Amino acid sequence: MDSDGTLWQRRFGDDPAEALRALNDSLGFDRRMFREDIAGSRAHAAMLAAVGLLTGAERDGICDALDTVEAEMADGRFVPNAGDEDIHTAVERRVTELTPAGAKLHTGRSRNDQVAADLRLWTRTALGEVAEAVLELQRTLLGRAVEAGEALMPGYTHLQQAQPVLLAHHLLAHGWALARDFHRLVEARRRADVSPLGAGALAGSSLPLDPALTAAELGFGAVFDNSLDAVSDRDFVVDALYALAMLGLHLSRIGEELVIWSSTEFGFVELDDAYATGSSMLPQKKNPDVAELARAKAGRLIGHLTGLMATLKGLPLSYAKDLQEDKEPLFDAVDTVRLTLTALNGLIATTRFDIDRLSQQASSPYGAAADLAELLVTGGLAFREAHGVVAELVRRSLDGEGSLADLVAADERLPAEAAALFEAGAFAKRRSTPGGGGAEAVAAQIEKFRSRIDADAGRFRERE
Ligand code: ARG
Repeated sequence: MDSDGTLWQRRFGDDPAEALRALNDSLGFDRRMFREDIAGSRAHAAMLAAVGLLTGAERDGICDALDTVEAEMADGRFVPNAGDEDIHTAVERRVTELTPAGAKLHTGRSRNDQVAADLRLWTRTALGEVAEAVLELQRTLLGRAVEAGEALMPGYTHLQQAQPVLLAHHLLAHGWALARDFHRLVEARRRADVSPLGAGALAGSSLPLDPALTAAELGFGAVFDNSLDAVSDRDFVVDALYALAMLGLHLSRIGEELVIWSSTEFGFVELDDAYATGSSMLPQKKNPDVAELARAKAGRLIGHLTGLMATLKGLPLSYAKDLQEDKEPLFDAVDTVRLTLTALNGLIATTRFDIDRLSQQASSPYGAAADLAELLVTGGLAFREAHGVVAELVRRSLDGEGSLADLVAADERLPAEAAALFEAGAFAKRRSTPGGGGAEAVAAQIEKFRSRIDADAGRFRERE
Protein backbone atom coordinates (compact mmCIF):
# COMPACT_ATOMS: atom_id res chain seq x y z
CA MET A 1 0.00 0.00 0.00
CA ASP A 2 1.33 3.50 -0.79
CA SER A 3 1.65 5.34 2.45
CA ASP A 4 -0.99 7.92 1.50
CA GLY A 5 -3.07 5.86 -0.90
CA THR A 6 -6.17 3.75 -0.40
CA LEU A 7 -6.10 -0.04 -0.14
CA TRP A 8 -7.42 -0.35 -3.65
CA GLN A 9 -5.70 2.58 -5.40
CA ARG A 10 -3.48 0.52 -7.64
CA ARG A 11 -6.54 -0.62 -9.57
CA PHE A 12 -7.24 2.99 -10.60
CA GLY A 13 -5.47 5.64 -12.64
CA ASP A 14 -6.82 8.76 -10.93
CA ASP A 15 -6.99 9.80 -7.29
CA PRO A 16 -10.42 9.68 -5.66
CA ALA A 17 -12.43 12.90 -5.83
CA GLU A 18 -12.74 14.93 -2.66
CA ALA A 19 -16.52 14.53 -2.76
CA LEU A 20 -16.18 10.75 -2.91
CA ARG A 21 -13.93 10.75 0.11
CA ALA A 22 -16.23 13.03 2.05
CA LEU A 23 -19.18 10.73 1.41
CA ASN A 24 -17.38 7.41 1.54
CA ASP A 25 -14.98 7.73 4.44
CA SER A 26 -16.21 6.30 7.72
CA LEU A 27 -13.15 6.63 9.96
CA GLY A 28 -14.80 9.60 11.68
CA PHE A 29 -17.32 7.28 13.30
CA ASP A 30 -16.02 3.73 12.91
CA ARG A 31 -12.76 4.48 14.75
CA ARG A 32 -14.90 3.86 17.77
CA MET A 33 -14.47 0.16 17.00
CA PHE A 34 -10.68 0.28 17.02
CA ARG A 35 -10.31 -2.15 19.92
CA GLU A 36 -12.63 -4.64 18.22
CA ASP A 37 -10.83 -4.22 14.89
CA ILE A 38 -7.48 -4.85 16.54
CA ALA A 39 -8.80 -7.84 18.50
CA GLY A 40 -10.15 -9.24 15.24
CA SER A 41 -6.77 -8.78 13.57
CA ARG A 42 -4.96 -10.51 16.43
CA ALA A 43 -7.32 -13.46 16.13
CA HIS A 44 -6.96 -13.52 12.36
CA ALA A 45 -3.14 -13.44 12.58
CA ALA A 46 -3.19 -16.24 15.14
CA MET A 47 -5.38 -18.33 12.82
CA LEU A 48 -3.16 -17.59 9.78
CA ALA A 49 -0.14 -18.78 11.77
CA ALA A 50 -1.99 -21.89 12.97
CA VAL A 51 -2.79 -22.94 9.40
CA GLY A 52 0.74 -22.15 8.16
CA LEU A 53 0.02 -18.92 6.27
CA LEU A 54 2.19 -16.83 8.63
CA THR A 55 5.37 -17.84 10.44
CA GLY A 56 5.40 -17.56 14.21
CA ALA A 57 7.75 -14.59 13.90
CA GLU A 58 5.47 -12.83 11.42
CA ARG A 59 2.48 -13.37 13.69
CA ASP A 60 4.40 -12.00 16.68
CA GLY A 61 5.57 -9.01 14.67
CA ILE A 62 1.99 -8.29 13.63
CA CYS A 63 0.68 -8.70 17.18
CA ASP A 64 3.36 -6.35 18.56
CA ALA A 65 2.47 -3.80 15.89
CA LEU A 66 -1.22 -4.18 16.77
CA ASP A 67 -0.37 -3.48 20.42
CA THR A 68 1.42 -0.30 19.32
CA VAL A 69 -1.49 0.83 17.14
CA GLU A 70 -3.95 0.13 19.94
CA ALA A 71 -1.91 2.25 22.35
CA GLU A 72 -1.60 5.05 19.78
CA MET A 73 -5.33 5.04 19.17
CA ALA A 74 -6.20 4.84 22.85
CA ASP A 75 -4.16 7.87 23.85
CA GLY A 76 -4.79 9.96 20.76
CA ARG A 77 -1.28 9.73 19.28
CA PHE A 78 -2.53 7.97 16.16
CA VAL A 79 -2.27 10.19 13.08
CA PRO A 80 -4.65 9.20 10.29
CA ASN A 81 -3.61 9.88 6.74
CA ALA A 82 -5.70 10.77 3.71
CA GLY A 83 -6.00 7.17 2.54
CA ASP A 84 -7.41 5.88 5.83
CA GLU A 85 -10.98 5.56 4.66
CA ASP A 86 -12.13 3.48 7.59
CA ILE A 87 -10.84 1.92 10.78
CA HIS A 88 -9.81 -1.30 9.00
CA THR A 89 -7.71 0.59 6.46
CA ALA A 90 -6.17 2.78 9.13
CA VAL A 91 -5.10 -0.10 11.37
CA GLU A 92 -3.70 -2.18 8.51
CA ARG A 93 -1.81 0.78 7.03
CA ARG A 94 -0.17 1.56 10.36
CA VAL A 95 0.65 -2.10 11.14
CA THR A 96 2.34 -2.36 7.74
CA GLU A 97 4.42 0.74 8.50
CA LEU A 98 5.53 -0.92 11.73
CA THR A 99 6.28 -4.41 10.36
CA PRO A 100 6.72 -5.75 6.82
CA ALA A 101 4.61 -8.76 7.81
CA GLY A 102 1.68 -6.31 7.99
CA ALA A 103 1.36 -6.78 4.22
CA LYS A 104 0.22 -10.36 4.95
CA LEU A 105 -2.42 -9.44 7.55
CA HIS A 106 -5.26 -9.18 5.06
CA THR A 107 -4.61 -12.70 3.71
CA GLY A 108 -7.89 -14.56 3.37
CA ARG A 109 -9.85 -11.66 4.74
CA SER A 110 -12.02 -8.86 3.38
CA ARG A 111 -13.26 -5.74 5.04
CA ASN A 112 -16.68 -7.24 4.44
CA ASP A 113 -16.24 -10.03 6.97
CA GLN A 114 -13.97 -7.83 9.06
CA VAL A 115 -16.48 -5.00 9.53
CA ALA A 116 -19.25 -7.43 10.39
CA ALA A 117 -17.00 -9.05 12.99
CA ASP A 118 -16.00 -5.69 14.50
CA LEU A 119 -19.57 -4.52 14.77
CA ARG A 120 -20.70 -7.81 16.30
CA LEU A 121 -17.99 -7.58 18.93
CA TRP A 122 -18.86 -3.96 19.63
CA THR A 123 -22.57 -4.75 19.91
CA ARG A 124 -21.92 -7.67 22.24
CA THR A 125 -20.08 -5.46 24.70
CA ALA A 126 -22.39 -2.46 24.39
CA LEU A 127 -25.59 -4.45 24.93
CA GLY A 128 -24.06 -6.10 27.98
CA GLU A 129 -23.33 -2.70 29.45
CA VAL A 130 -26.81 -1.40 28.70
CA ALA A 131 -28.31 -4.54 30.27
CA GLU A 132 -26.27 -3.87 33.43
CA ALA A 133 -27.64 -0.32 33.55
CA VAL A 134 -31.18 -1.67 33.17
CA LEU A 135 -30.62 -3.92 36.18
CA GLU A 136 -29.43 -0.86 38.11
CA LEU A 137 -32.66 0.98 37.35
CA GLN A 138 -34.68 -2.10 38.34
CA ARG A 139 -32.82 -2.14 41.66
CA THR A 140 -33.62 1.54 42.20
CA LEU A 141 -37.32 0.95 41.52
CA LEU A 142 -37.27 -2.03 43.89
CA GLY A 143 -35.63 0.09 46.60
CA ARG A 144 -38.24 2.82 46.21
CA ALA A 145 -41.05 0.23 46.22
CA VAL A 146 -39.80 -1.29 49.46
CA GLU A 147 -39.45 2.16 50.99
CA ALA A 148 -43.02 3.06 49.95
CA GLY A 149 -44.39 0.28 52.18
CA GLU A 150 -48.17 0.25 52.12
CA ALA A 151 -48.56 3.84 50.90
CA LEU A 152 -51.51 4.15 48.55
CA MET A 153 -51.97 6.14 45.40
CA PRO A 154 -54.79 6.41 42.90
CA GLY A 155 -54.49 3.91 40.07
CA TYR A 156 -55.60 5.20 36.68
CA THR A 157 -57.15 4.07 33.45
CA HIS A 158 -57.70 6.67 30.72
CA LEU A 159 -55.78 8.94 33.13
CA GLN A 160 -58.98 8.99 35.20
CA GLN A 161 -58.85 7.80 38.78
CA ALA A 162 -59.93 4.18 38.79
CA GLN A 163 -58.97 2.17 41.88
CA PRO A 164 -56.34 2.80 44.54
CA VAL A 165 -53.16 0.75 44.36
CA LEU A 166 -50.02 0.58 46.41
CA LEU A 167 -47.40 3.06 45.24
CA ALA A 168 -45.01 0.09 45.34
CA HIS A 169 -47.26 -1.73 42.87
CA HIS A 170 -47.11 1.15 40.42
CA LEU A 171 -43.33 1.46 40.70
CA LEU A 172 -42.87 -2.26 40.15
CA ALA A 173 -45.09 -2.18 37.07
CA HIS A 174 -42.29 -0.21 35.41
CA GLY A 175 -39.78 -2.62 36.93
CA TRP A 176 -41.37 -5.62 35.19
CA ALA A 177 -41.31 -3.84 31.84
CA LEU A 178 -37.59 -3.30 32.38
CA ALA A 179 -37.18 -6.99 33.23
CA ARG A 180 -38.49 -7.79 29.75
CA ASP A 181 -36.08 -5.24 28.28
CA PHE A 182 -33.23 -6.94 30.08
CA HIS A 183 -34.12 -10.22 28.40
CA ARG A 184 -34.49 -8.60 25.00
CA LEU A 185 -31.02 -7.09 25.37
CA VAL A 186 -29.48 -10.40 26.41
CA GLU A 187 -31.20 -12.11 23.48
CA ALA A 188 -30.00 -9.43 21.04
CA ARG A 189 -26.52 -9.88 22.42
CA ARG A 190 -26.73 -13.62 21.81
CA ARG A 191 -27.74 -12.97 18.21
CA ALA A 192 -24.73 -10.70 17.72
CA ASP A 193 -22.49 -13.43 19.08
CA VAL A 194 -21.78 -15.20 15.76
CA SER A 195 -18.45 -14.92 13.96
CA PRO A 196 -18.49 -13.94 10.27
CA LEU A 197 -14.69 -14.17 9.96
CA GLY A 198 -13.59 -16.49 7.18
CA ALA A 199 -16.45 -15.47 4.89
CA GLY A 200 -14.01 -13.27 2.98
CA ALA A 201 -15.53 -10.76 0.56
CA LEU A 202 -18.54 -13.02 -0.02
CA ALA A 203 -17.50 -16.57 -0.94
CA GLY A 204 -14.90 -17.82 1.53
CA SER A 205 -11.35 -18.47 0.39
CA SER A 206 -9.17 -20.86 -1.55
CA LEU A 207 -6.69 -20.70 1.32
CA PRO A 208 -6.97 -23.23 4.18
CA LEU A 209 -8.60 -20.82 6.65
CA ASP A 210 -10.11 -22.06 9.90
CA PRO A 211 -13.15 -19.89 10.77
CA ALA A 212 -13.82 -21.90 13.96
CA LEU A 213 -10.39 -21.03 15.27
CA THR A 214 -10.83 -17.28 14.73
CA ALA A 215 -14.26 -17.48 16.31
CA ALA A 216 -12.87 -19.29 19.36
CA GLU A 217 -10.03 -16.76 19.70
CA LEU A 218 -12.62 -13.97 19.89
CA GLY A 219 -14.92 -15.88 22.22
CA PHE A 220 -17.77 -15.96 19.71
CA GLY A 221 -20.53 -18.39 20.62
CA ALA A 222 -21.10 -19.57 17.04
CA VAL A 223 -19.66 -19.43 13.50
CA PHE A 224 -21.44 -18.38 10.29
CA ASP A 225 -22.97 -21.07 8.08
CA ASN A 226 -23.13 -19.24 4.78
CA SER A 227 -20.49 -16.76 3.64
CA LEU A 228 -22.95 -14.64 1.62
CA ASP A 229 -25.24 -14.36 4.61
CA ALA A 230 -22.29 -13.67 6.93
CA VAL A 231 -21.31 -10.46 5.13
CA SER A 232 -24.88 -9.31 4.34
CA ASP A 233 -26.55 -9.98 7.66
CA ARG A 234 -27.29 -6.96 9.81
CA ASP A 235 -30.24 -8.55 11.62
CA PHE A 236 -28.25 -8.32 14.81
CA VAL A 237 -28.10 -4.53 14.50
CA VAL A 238 -31.84 -4.35 13.92
CA ASP A 239 -32.42 -6.67 16.89
CA ALA A 240 -30.23 -4.44 19.03
CA LEU A 241 -32.03 -1.29 17.82
CA TYR A 242 -35.39 -2.89 18.53
CA ALA A 243 -34.37 -3.87 22.06
CA LEU A 244 -33.04 -0.35 22.62
CA ALA A 245 -36.14 1.29 21.14
CA MET A 246 -38.45 -0.80 23.34
CA LEU A 247 -36.36 0.11 26.35
CA GLY A 248 -36.50 3.77 25.30
CA LEU A 249 -40.25 3.48 24.94
CA HIS A 250 -40.53 2.19 28.51
CA LEU A 251 -38.29 4.97 29.79
CA SER A 252 -40.51 7.47 27.99
CA ARG A 253 -43.55 6.17 29.86
CA ILE A 254 -41.76 6.55 33.19
CA GLY A 255 -40.66 10.02 32.09
CA GLU A 256 -44.19 11.04 31.17
CA GLU A 257 -45.54 9.97 34.55
CA LEU A 258 -42.88 11.94 36.37
CA VAL A 259 -43.74 14.99 34.27
CA ILE A 260 -47.39 14.67 35.25
CA TRP A 261 -46.75 13.74 38.86
CA SER A 262 -44.43 16.71 39.42
CA SER A 263 -47.00 19.21 38.11
CA THR A 264 -48.66 21.51 40.63
CA GLU A 265 -52.01 19.97 39.79
CA PHE A 266 -50.92 16.43 40.69
CA GLY A 267 -48.24 17.28 43.23
CA PHE A 268 -47.41 13.60 43.78
CA VAL A 269 -43.64 14.09 43.72
CA GLU A 270 -41.06 16.73 44.26
CA LEU A 271 -37.98 16.40 42.10
CA ASP A 272 -34.62 16.76 43.72
CA ASP A 273 -32.88 20.03 42.84
CA ALA A 274 -29.95 18.11 41.34
CA TYR A 275 -32.30 16.53 38.81
CA ALA A 276 -34.51 19.52 37.99
CA THR A 277 -33.92 22.68 36.01
CA GLY A 278 -35.01 26.28 36.41
CA SER A 279 -36.52 28.78 34.03
CA SER A 280 -34.55 31.69 32.58
CA MET A 281 -37.56 33.97 32.94
CA LEU A 282 -39.89 32.53 35.57
CA PRO A 283 -38.15 32.42 38.94
CA GLN A 284 -40.70 30.12 40.57
CA LYS A 285 -40.28 27.28 38.05
CA LYS A 286 -38.79 23.87 38.70
CA ASN A 287 -38.83 21.92 35.48
CA PRO A 288 -38.66 18.15 34.94
CA ASP A 289 -36.24 18.25 31.98
CA VAL A 290 -34.74 14.81 32.70
CA ALA A 291 -38.18 13.22 32.59
CA GLU A 292 -39.12 15.18 29.47
CA LEU A 293 -35.95 14.13 27.68
CA ALA A 294 -36.52 10.52 28.71
CA ARG A 295 -39.93 10.91 27.10
CA ALA A 296 -38.46 12.49 23.96
CA LYS A 297 -35.49 10.22 23.31
CA ALA A 298 -37.77 7.32 22.43
CA GLY A 299 -38.64 9.13 19.19
CA ARG A 300 -35.03 9.18 18.15
CA LEU A 301 -34.55 5.52 19.06
CA ILE A 302 -37.58 4.44 17.06
CA GLY A 303 -36.20 6.55 14.20
CA HIS A 304 -32.90 4.65 14.25
CA LEU A 305 -34.74 1.33 14.13
CA THR A 306 -37.01 2.24 11.24
CA GLY A 307 -34.20 4.11 9.47
CA LEU A 308 -31.91 1.10 9.39
CA MET A 309 -34.72 -1.24 8.36
CA ALA A 310 -35.45 1.09 5.44
CA THR A 311 -31.77 1.02 4.47
CA LEU A 312 -31.67 -2.78 4.54
CA LYS A 313 -34.94 -3.29 2.71
CA GLY A 314 -34.44 -4.58 -0.83
CA LEU A 315 -30.63 -4.77 -0.64
CA PRO A 316 -29.27 -7.48 -2.92
CA LEU A 317 -26.82 -10.00 -1.49
CA SER A 318 -24.14 -9.74 -0.41
CA TYR A 319 -22.18 -6.74 0.83
CA ALA A 320 -23.10 -3.27 -0.42
CA LYS A 321 -21.78 0.02 0.85
CA ASP A 322 -25.26 0.79 2.12
CA LEU A 323 -24.31 -1.43 5.04
CA GLN A 324 -21.85 1.20 6.22
CA GLU A 325 -24.95 3.10 7.35
CA ASP A 326 -25.51 0.58 10.15
CA LYS A 327 -23.06 2.06 12.64
CA GLU A 328 -24.14 5.60 13.36
CA PRO A 329 -27.70 4.70 14.35
CA LEU A 330 -26.45 1.89 16.56
CA PHE A 331 -23.77 4.00 18.24
CA ASP A 332 -26.20 6.83 18.81
CA ALA A 333 -28.90 4.50 20.13
CA VAL A 334 -26.51 2.98 22.65
CA ASP A 335 -25.22 6.41 23.74
CA THR A 336 -28.74 7.80 24.01
CA VAL A 337 -30.05 4.90 26.07
CA ARG A 338 -27.07 4.92 28.40
CA LEU A 339 -27.35 8.65 29.09
CA THR A 340 -31.08 8.39 29.63
CA LEU A 341 -30.83 5.37 31.93
CA THR A 342 -28.23 7.05 34.12
CA ALA A 343 -30.12 10.32 34.43
CA LEU A 344 -33.50 8.69 34.98
CA ASN A 345 -32.00 6.38 37.58
CA GLY A 346 -30.69 9.40 39.48
CA LEU A 347 -34.02 11.18 39.15
CA ILE A 348 -36.02 8.23 40.48
CA ALA A 349 -33.56 7.54 43.28
CA THR A 350 -33.84 11.12 44.58
CA THR A 351 -37.47 12.04 43.93
CA ARG A 352 -39.57 12.67 47.06
CA PHE A 353 -43.04 11.16 47.04
CA ASP A 354 -45.72 13.21 48.78
CA ILE A 355 -47.31 10.25 50.56
CA ASP A 356 -50.06 12.36 52.19
CA ARG A 357 -51.13 13.84 48.92
CA LEU A 358 -51.04 10.43 47.23
CA SER A 359 -53.18 8.79 49.89
CA GLN A 360 -55.58 11.71 50.00
CA GLN A 361 -56.07 11.33 46.24
CA ALA A 362 -56.42 7.58 46.69
CA SER A 363 -59.23 7.96 49.20
CA SER A 364 -62.03 8.99 46.86
CA PRO A 365 -65.14 7.01 47.87
CA TYR A 366 -65.70 6.13 44.23
CA GLY A 367 -62.54 4.03 44.35
CA ALA A 368 -64.62 1.56 46.41
CA ALA A 369 -67.26 1.16 43.68
CA ALA A 370 -65.88 -2.06 42.20
CA ASP A 371 -65.44 -3.57 45.67
CA LEU A 372 -69.07 -2.72 46.52
CA ALA A 373 -70.19 -4.54 43.41
CA GLU A 374 -67.97 -7.50 44.28
CA LEU A 375 -69.45 -7.59 47.78
CA LEU A 376 -72.90 -7.93 46.22
CA VAL A 377 -71.55 -10.75 44.06
CA THR A 378 -70.37 -12.65 47.15
CA GLY A 379 -73.95 -12.28 48.38
CA GLY A 380 -75.17 -14.12 45.28
CA LEU A 381 -76.07 -11.29 42.89
CA ALA A 382 -74.95 -11.55 39.23
CA PHE A 383 -72.12 -9.13 38.54
CA ARG A 384 -74.04 -7.23 35.88
CA GLU A 385 -76.87 -6.63 38.39
CA ALA A 386 -74.41 -5.64 41.10
CA HIS A 387 -72.69 -3.20 38.76
CA GLY A 388 -76.08 -1.62 38.06
CA VAL A 389 -76.92 -1.22 41.76
CA VAL A 390 -73.64 0.53 42.52
CA ALA A 391 -73.70 2.59 39.33
CA GLU A 392 -77.09 3.95 40.32
CA LEU A 393 -75.83 4.92 43.79
CA VAL A 394 -72.77 6.61 42.23
CA ARG A 395 -74.99 8.61 39.92
CA ARG A 396 -77.26 9.69 42.75
CA SER A 397 -74.27 10.73 44.80
CA LEU A 398 -72.80 12.71 41.89
CA ASP A 399 -76.22 14.33 41.43
CA GLY A 400 -75.93 15.67 44.98
CA GLU A 401 -78.20 13.29 46.88
CA GLY A 402 -75.54 12.55 49.47
CA SER A 403 -72.14 10.95 49.92
CA LEU A 404 -71.71 7.51 48.41
CA ALA A 405 -71.07 6.10 51.91
CA ASP A 406 -74.39 7.53 53.18
CA LEU A 407 -76.33 6.26 50.20
CA VAL A 408 -74.76 2.81 50.61
CA ALA A 409 -75.58 2.77 54.35
CA ALA A 410 -79.19 3.66 53.59
CA ASP A 411 -79.64 1.07 50.84
CA GLU A 412 -80.92 -2.26 52.07
CA ARG A 413 -79.61 -4.13 49.07
CA LEU A 414 -76.11 -3.65 50.47
CA PRO A 415 -75.04 -5.53 53.62
CA ALA A 416 -73.85 -3.73 56.75
CA GLU A 417 -70.21 -4.66 56.15
CA ALA A 418 -70.26 -2.42 53.03
CA ALA A 419 -69.48 0.57 55.29
CA ALA A 420 -66.03 -0.89 56.00
CA LEU A 421 -65.09 -0.59 52.34
CA PHE A 422 -64.88 3.18 52.73
CA GLU A 423 -62.31 3.00 55.54
CA ALA A 424 -58.83 4.17 54.68
CA GLY A 425 -56.68 1.29 53.49
CA ALA A 426 -59.62 -1.12 53.17
CA PHE A 427 -58.85 -1.50 49.53
CA ALA A 428 -55.26 -2.57 50.13
CA LYS A 429 -56.38 -5.30 52.51
CA ARG A 430 -59.05 -6.74 50.25
CA ARG A 431 -57.04 -6.99 47.08
CA SER A 432 -55.36 -10.32 47.65
CA THR A 433 -55.35 -11.88 44.17
CA PRO A 434 -51.84 -12.83 43.00
CA GLY A 435 -50.16 -10.01 41.09
CA GLY A 436 -52.81 -7.52 42.25
CA GLY A 437 -52.37 -4.11 43.82
CA GLY A 438 -53.13 -4.98 47.48
CA ALA A 439 -50.64 -5.17 50.31
CA GLU A 440 -50.23 -8.93 50.63
CA ALA A 441 -49.96 -9.51 46.89
CA VAL A 442 -47.44 -6.68 46.54
CA ALA A 443 -45.30 -8.06 49.36
CA ALA A 444 -45.11 -11.36 47.44
CA GLN A 445 -44.44 -9.50 44.23
CA ILE A 446 -41.55 -7.61 45.77
CA GLU A 447 -39.87 -10.90 46.69
CA LYS A 448 -40.49 -12.30 43.24
CA PHE A 449 -39.07 -9.20 41.61
CA ARG A 450 -36.03 -9.28 43.85
CA SER A 451 -35.28 -12.90 42.96
CA ARG A 452 -35.82 -12.15 39.29
CA ILE A 453 -33.20 -9.38 39.42
CA ASP A 454 -30.78 -11.61 41.32
CA ALA A 455 -31.27 -14.47 38.89
CA ASP A 456 -30.82 -12.16 35.89
CA ALA A 457 -27.68 -10.63 37.35
CA GLY A 458 -26.28 -14.13 38.00
CA ARG A 459 -27.16 -15.44 34.56
CA PHE A 460 -25.68 -12.37 33.03
CA ARG A 461 -22.34 -12.82 34.77
CA GLU A 462 -22.13 -16.51 33.84
CA ARG A 463 -22.30 -15.65 30.17
CA GLU A 464 -19.42 -13.17 30.32
N1 ARG B 1 -16.32 0.90 6.03
C1 ARG B 1 -17.00 -0.22 5.47
C2 ARG B 1 -18.32 -0.49 6.21
O1 ARG B 1 -18.54 0.07 7.22
C3 ARG B 1 -16.15 -1.42 5.56
C4 ARG B 1 -16.39 -2.43 4.51
C5 ARG B 1 -15.96 -1.92 3.20
N2 ARG B 1 -15.99 -2.94 2.20
C6 ARG B 1 -15.87 -2.69 0.91
N3 ARG B 1 -15.88 -3.65 0.13
N4 ARG B 1 -15.71 -1.47 0.48
O2 ARG B 1 -19.16 -1.23 5.79
